[in-house]
Amino acid sequence: MFATVAIVGAGPAGLLLARMLHNAGIDSIVLEHRDRAYVEHRQRAGMLEQGTVDALRACGAAGRLDREGLVHHGIELRFDRQSHHLDFPALTGGRSVMIYAQTEIVKDLVALQLAEGGPLLFEAEAISIEDDMLTFVRDGVEEKLGFDFVVGCDGFHGISRAAIPGARVYERDYPYSWLGILADVPPSCEELIYAHSDRGFALHSMRSPTVSRLYLQVPNDTDPDDWPDDRIWDELDARFAIDADWKLMRGPITQKSVTPMRSFVTEPMRHGRLFLAGDAAHIVPPTGAKGLNLAIADVVTLARALQHWFTTGSPDLLNTYSDACLRRVWRAEHFSYFMTTLLHRAPDQTPFDTRLQLSQLHRIADSRHAAAELAENYAGLP
Ligand code: APR
Ligand code: PHB
Repeated sequence: MFATVAIVGAGPAGLLLARMLHNAGIDSIVLEHRDRAYVEHRQRAGMLEQGTVDALRACGAAGRLDREGLVHHGIELRFDRQSHHLDFPALTGGRSVMIYAQTEIVKDLVALQLAEGGPLLFEAEAISIEDDMLTFVRDGVEEKLGFDFVVGCDGFHGISRAAIPGARVYERDYPYSWLGILADVPPSCEELIYAHSDRGFALHSMRSPTVSRLYLQVPNDTDPDDWPDDRIWDELDARFAIDADWKLMRGPITQKSVTPMRSFVTEPMRHGRLFLAGDAAHIVPPTGAKGLNLAIADVVTLARALQHWFTTGSPDLLNTYSDACLRRVWRAEHFSYFMTTLLHRAPDQTPFDTRLQLSQLHRIADSRHAAAELAENYAGLP
């Protein structure tokens, strides 16, 4: 088997890359370890920057997103029992964000790839990458795939990263996780609520006008079974409480899971014909909602560089790929770290630390400059 571009992983990064290359007339084969149902039902992120929406539209993958996505013009910060709204268009010169689940993006891209694109092989696990040959296992049989370029879109637990010799890793763990739920109940807010409280962080997000997505900060290694539904709703009530007439609507919880938080970057993101994109190269804690958006930004940069190579023969954009991506990656790493440490309560947190957090939150609420700095990073830098 041979593909001009071999793509490992059918998450949003691998699928969007295959779609963009297809539109540019460059053939690819996508290998995905899991089966289609698994890939299409993983619960992940849901906040899309304008640039992410633009990229999906430009490659003809935004039909359902444009019908079902919810446009949000800001977020709400809650602390000290008060609520503060950040108006993104006013603070950023007109930018907004969109809520549309990552799983839905994956479903849309899988359908397009199977209908119009090159091969997308499920239950095909890449096991090694050499100079111009990839080995994978399908139905218990080892197969070889030759390529001009190979792109590791295989997420944090993939194998591609290890094929970059001498890579340098930067990482940070956090002393807390998120307990996330999906509930069949209309959201109790129009836009997302990020809540700082003495009991820890909480986030109210949504998936549709009838489905809410909520998160609670919990200790690492929390067992979701220790959190019966009533305990979750009571804790959310306590963390979102404000001195105003507001009520959190409850409904049947349909899904519950615990996710650890991590910051991670590997440098460089390229070695010879191998390129990394998305979670394979970097992880952010979810508080700034940057993970999916970074993955898409990598892919847009790489698709452009590959297209430039195939149309002009110039390697310039391939050569600058890693540096160009890492610049955005480190901005998002900083922002995600900032949002996380601003809003969460560390197990060893002192009253002094809490006072610093509240001072910074008040500064964001009171200063247009401080609010604009948050809004620009959240809504996405060009
Ligand atoms: N062979 C083939 N496929 C593999 C292999 C392998 N050896 N290892 C991993 N994969 C597949 C996984 O099964 C997964 O479907 O690679 C895919 C990687 O997809 P994602 O983890 O969704 O990563 P990415 O496409 O970079 O998307 C990043 O996902 O975790 C979120 O916050 C993150 O929203 C961001 C997005
Ligand atoms: C989500 O909807 O899953 C979501 C939204 C915003 C975040 C993190 C997760 O910061």
